[in-house]
Formats: sequence, structure tokens, C-alpha cells
Amino acid sequence: MIATTRNIGLTAFGASVLMAGGALACDPGKPGSELTGDEAQAVYDCLAEALHDGYTSGAKQWIPTDKVDDYRNWTLASSFPAAPGFHDNRFLLTWVNDVGAEEYLRYAENPKIPAGTWIAKESFSVNDDGNVRPGPLFLMQKVQAGTSPETDDWYYMLVAPNGSPMGVDVMTACSECHQGAYGFQGGLGYPVEEARIGQ
Ligand code: HEC
Repeated sequence: MIATTRNIGLTAFGASVLMAGGALACDPGKPGSELTGDEAQAVYDCLAEALHDGYTSGAKQWIPTDKVDDYRNWTLASSFPAAPGFHDNRFLLTWVNDVGAEEYLRYAENPKIPAGTWIAKESFSVNDDGNVRPGPLFLMQKVQAGTSPETDDWYYMLVAPNGSPMGVDVMTACSECHQGAYGFQGGLGYPVEEARIGQ
């Protein structure tokens, strides 16, 4: 009886349990830096549903809800969650919508990313004690040429693990790194090479 109640509680409040206490059931029990690709994938497989439930919870305000609801139906660009050391050492998985998938998946220098492209990146972290924490959902939208010259017509958005839109100064928090370090790739960082899915 106690077990049943507890299971119901975890199902209904899985996302908030994750926020509050870490994803206990998904903890790999060793530091994130020691995880193999397969082990990171196993953590993700365990976490995936709660992660998505979290991102899709609540109002999104200026962030289009349909994009947050749909991105997992877009083209997956990562073969496993890799932690390249950016975005706070988080493990990352990237999806691209139909408009931009073909061009993004070339991982080219100077790609011609069409306006209307959306890119979504999930994240989670594993600390030195081997505890998992959901991370934000990162979004980029390519808008019509000339709309936002200072960001090369990229809009940046961020959704917290509990689904709240996060207001950040996207110039300093996002664009300066993307444009400054990856301007030669159209402002795109791309997954690390061993984690790229090709066309
Ligand atoms: C310190 C540098 C840096 C900062 C700051 C940064 N990013 Fe990134 N971003 C990267 C790198 C590197 C990648 C590719 C890494 C990967 O996917 O494995 C990337 C990838 C992405 C992607 C997938 C598309 C791509 O570039 O391949 C999205 C979406 C994204 N970032 C959004 C954001 C948003 C939103 C912010 C601000 C809240 C942000 N980033 C801040 C470096 C940065």
C-alpha cells in the first residue's frame, strides 16, 4: 500500500521530484566525467520522460509552446548525449526542425541555414557524486535576414527544467559565444564529432 501510494506520487510529480532531490532512480553512481557514451545514454533513457514533462509544464510566455511540445519529432543530430564542456559541462542532445535539418546535418563551415530553422537542445548534468540533474532546454531560431543583424538573425531562448521560460541577456549569455567562437560555422557549435548523426 505504501509502495503504491509512492508510485502514484512519483508518476504525478516526477518532474518536481527530479528538481527537488535529483533524479535518484537515474543516478549512474559515478561522476559525469567518467561516463562512457553508452552509460550517458542509459542515464538519458531513464530521465527522458521526466525531462520532457518538465520542459512542457506551464506557460511559455514569449517562447512558442508548439516548438517545445514538438521538438522531439524533429531530426535528431546527436547519436548519444555527449558532454563537450560547454553549457556548464552538461550532456547535450540536439534536434533540428525540417526547415534546417538537411543543412545543419552537414556540419559545414558557412552553412546556409534557412529562415524558419529551429534547433532544440536538451541538457542534463551528472555531478562528481554521480547524481543526475535535469538542465535547461536551449533553443535557437533563424529569423528572416535583417531582423536581428547583431545576432546574425538568430533568436535564442531558454526553458528551465521545470518548464519556466528563462529571461537572460541573450547577447552576453548566448550570442557572444555562438557568434564569437563559431561565427565561421554560421554561429553553430555542432555536437562533438563522435556524437554527430550524419544525413
Ligand atoms: C561558452 C559558449 C556558449 C554559450 C555561452 C552558449 N552556447 Fe550554445 N553551444 C555552444 C557549443 C560549443 C555548442 C555545440 C555543443 C554541442 O552541441 O555538443 C552549442 C550548441 C547550442 C545549440 C545547438 C545548435 C548548435 O549550435 O549546434 C543551441 C540551440 C544552443 N547552443 C543554444 C544556446 C543558448 C540559448 C544559449 C544562451 C542561453 C547558449 N547556447 C549559450 C556554446 C555556447
